[in-house]
Amino acid sequence: MQNNTFLTLFVGQSLVKLSEIDSTNDYLKKGLSNTKPLPEGTVIMADHQFAGRGQQSNVWKSEKGKNLTISILFKPSFLSLGQQFYLNKAISLGINDCLRAIIGDDCKIKWPNDIYHKSHKLGGVLIENTSAGQYLKTSVVGIGLNVNQQHFGEGVERATSLSKILHEDYELNDLLAQLCKSIENRYLQLKAGLYFCLDEDYLGRVYRLNEVFRYQIGDEKVSGIIKGVSEKGYLMLQIDDEVKQLDLKQVTFIFDSE
Ligand code: BTN
Repeated sequence: MQNNTFLTLFVGQSLVKLSEIDSTNDYLKKGLSNTKPLPEGTVIMADHQFAGRGQQSNVWKSEKGKNLTISILFKPSFLSLGQQFYLNKAISLGINDCLRAIIGDDCKIKWPNDIYHKSHKLGGVLIENTSAGQYLKTSVVGIGLNVNQQHFGEGVERATSLSKILHEDYELNDLLAQLCKSIENRYLQLKAGLYFCLDEDYLGRVYRLNEVFRYQIGDEKVSGIIKGVSEKGYLMLQIDDEVKQLDLKQVTFIFDSE
């Protein structure tokens, strides 16, 4: 474990840098079962993951040494299970704040928490929580950000990276420090109960908000308009005159080329 000079109160103050691991989320979750408790804000960072995991049991592939693959430990015991989507909002906004400072306002949040630049995926988030009674106990926040990777394999046409956008490489350690700071700021906003700010900022950054696009729902392809995201985190999609509340398994975004 390393101590850092990050300008944060707790996120990244304990940093474990690994050259290779199956998944930083799995490593951190194993660490939680050790007798000595890990401090909140502990960050696990890997140069390479050989079994990185994405949402919905997808794999997360990332070229060795080129990108950020990290997991951060939070202990959001102040959040009830019914409020857990607020953690999603705070984390997505923290990442989005950091990236906006580097690449500008074209950086959006594709519901629920994909990191997008225009219509390309720059990164993803995998949050794994434990609970105690009706409250959250621990949260392992896994973040994969494409930073200096130039080429992505077949089937990942929608992927981009910071260096593809900026036309130059970005220093991974600098990005990590900036990311820890902006995520901590949003987490502290959440802890202070400033839900209104999180709601307003998240909504303002939702990719495709209030625009007509195509979506796949079950076997059907439909035109719809994203009207918002419900308190529990469902996508509110207007189709004709009805606003449906959909979860991640029920809806797929369709892109122009599809
Ligand atoms: C997604 O978009 O599907 C989420 C991707 C999350 C990937 C990150 S990389 C660091 C952490 N460790 C993992 O195994 N997954 C997350």
